[in-house]
Amino acid sequence: MSNYRPPYPVPGVIWASLPVPSLLIDRKGRIAEVNPAAETFLNASTRSLVGQPAFDRISIDAPMEEALARARTNQSPLFINDVDVTAGDRPPVQCNIQVAPMHDNPDIILMLISPRDIADRLGRSMSVKSAARSAIGMAEMLAHEIKNPLAGISGAAQLISMNAGPEDRELTDLIVEETRRIVKLLEQVEQFGNLRPPDRRCVNIHDALDRARKSAVVGFAAHMTIVEDYDPSLPSTYADPDQLMQVFLNLIKNAAEACGRSGGTIRLRTFYDLALRLRRKQGSPAAVPLQVEIIDDGPGLPPGIAADVFEPFVSGRENGTGLGLALVSKIISDHEGWVTVDSVPGRTVFRVSLPIAPKTNKEKL
Ligand SMILES: Nc1ncnc2c1ncn2[C@@H]1O[C@H](COP(=O)(O)OP(=O)(O)OP(=O)(O)O)[C@@H](O)[C@H]1O
Ligand SMILES: [Mg+2]
Repeated sequence: MSNYRPPYPVPGVIWASLPVPSLLIDRKGRIAEVNPAAETFLNASTRSLVGQPAFDRISIDAPMEEALARARTNQSPLFINDVDVTAGDRPPVQCNIQVAPMHDNPDIILMLISPRDIADRLGRSMSVKSAARSAIGMAEMLAHEIKNPLAGISGAAQLISMNAGPEDRELTDLIVEETRRIVKLLEQVEQFGNLRPPDRRCVNIHDALDRARKSAVVGFAAHMTIVEDYDPSLPSTYADPDQLMQVFLNLIKNAAEACGRSGGTIRLRTFYDLALRLRRKQGSPAAVPLQVEIIDDGPGLPPGIAADVFEPFVSGRENGTGLGLALVSKIISDHEGWVTVDSVPGRTVFRVSLPIAPKTNKEKL
């Protein structure tokens, strides 16, 4: 816009040195000046930008006109965090935006656009995930490698025990017993890595819960009182029945273990709640209205690990592998569901939220 006359003197060296994309915007919302960082960010030259309506060139997912007006009226700066900014045909970038009226001419607004550091935002959760993945990969490899020599150790101990006196036999028995424990642990690690993709079909959640409950009461939850609090009208979900039962079994097992030998009560509760929606990577949010809660009256999550219980290898128990909840979380996310925990001493609630089976699949039944 060659006949556009900047209403404000071109800022000096500090302006050019500012590493943050910065623009001056006039009263009519046109670009009055851009710094070199903004040229790079917008992938356009100052000449082609000045005079243009600012929000034609940069699309910001926030009511910017209103924000600028407010900054002008109040003569005070305004910060808008975490908004998507699109320039040209680039994909949107998450940014923090700061706007401030110029001291000597409040009609002119200074706007700074700071792209959020990707490493800071996405990276952290990604790196946790990939760290978990590589930890599991490593553990799986180790598990595989360690199992063979362990079989040798255990076999040798059994051979020695044949000719050993009672005192030594106690030691060889210890070797065999401990080796067995390690093999079991390694098998759990391997099972985690080998989890197959779910074979999904229409499943009545109460059937899966019942299977888990029956298996629990004859084993690890024999000392617990289990109360069922079901909503019988709950529609079916779309899941792999075995994996779903594994989820409930792990949650009941944890509850029983947390309550300890003295026992306690586990409440299995189901209900419908349409309010909960899960944000998906693509498309509209998906409803996860089927709620299953496994509630116990034990001591609650150990405070030191409460924030990380779904991460692999995080355990508050002696001899715990810390894979139970990681498995739960993996299975549920494979099922487009959600699992959360809410825990205070005396009441721990693990909630699994699942989608409803699609109509067409229901009809197949
Ligand atoms: N209902 C609960 N009440 C109190 N603490 C719990 C409960 N469920 C889980 N936890 C805590 O979370 C930790 C992690 O659980 P997770 O099931 O992942 O591993 P684990 O039970 O220690 O080992 P694994 O399940 O692999 O044998 C447990 O060690 C325990 O400290
Ligand atoms: Mg467990």
